[in-house]
Amino acid sequence: MRRQLVMGNWKMNGSKAANEELVSVFLGLWQKIGQAEVAFAPPAIYLPQVASLLARSELALAAQDVSAHVDAGAFTGELSSAMLADIGCRYVIVGHSERRAYHGESDQQVAAKALACLARGLTPVVCVGESLAQREADETLAIVGAQLEAVQNLLEPSQLKNIVVAYEPVWAIGTGKTASPEQAQTVHHFIRSRLGEQGAVVRLLYGGSVKASNAAELFAQADIDGALVGGAALNAEEFFQICQAAN
Ligand code: G3H
Repeated sequence: MRRQLVMGNWKMNGSKAANEELVSVFLGLWQKIGQAEVAFAPPAIYLPQVASLLARSELALAAQDVSAHVDAGAFTGELSSAMLADIGCRYVIVGHSERRAYHGESDQQVAAKALACLARGLTPVVCVGESLAQREADETLAIVGAQLEAVQNLLEPSQLKNIVVAYEPVWAIGTGKTASPEQAQTVHHFIRSRLGEQGAVVRLLYGGSVKASNAAELFAQADIDGALVGGAALNAEEFFQICQAAN
């Protein structure tokens, strides 16, 4: 049985006041009625603030990125998995398409970041997904397969069961265009089969314009175990509705 997971990726949004408002409104709505696991991924500078806001709840804290270097050292500007674990993170998003596109992260670097997370007890949320041009060229499964394979090549098979995979078609991120439930399910099923034995326990999240209005039909798919939510996670009421749909 895979417990559904809904993660709000705030990207580069927020302020001390806005974060406090968002989390307190969400907690007021969520209380203990929710069954799904819920996580917030604020910008790194606000992780301690959000850790403290979530302290008496069961909600999880997630970081948006991590260094691939496991040991402390001369890596200016980087944050290690040990530091993220130290301040209470449970999850780390790795290989988000915005990091791949704007920071040139390769499949191998993303895999190294996933390994760094596991080395310090954090769960990596490994993002994969194709661009519009790749989908139109019928390369979706080849691209997603290669992104996944880099992780499979670096991790021991026994470590694979401790990751989460987020399928985020790049053309659906922040565009209002969601993959249809069938399109998403096809890729999720492919990912699960590629994960072999571990696939039965690995949670597969869908990301890309998830909203309150489309969450339920996505979550109804056999291989969709939750969502990685961007824009709609910045509105406490809408994010609550998405989390409710995952129960
Ligand atoms: O990490 C979240 C995804 O990039 C989805 O963003 O919900 O704004 O499309 P979005």
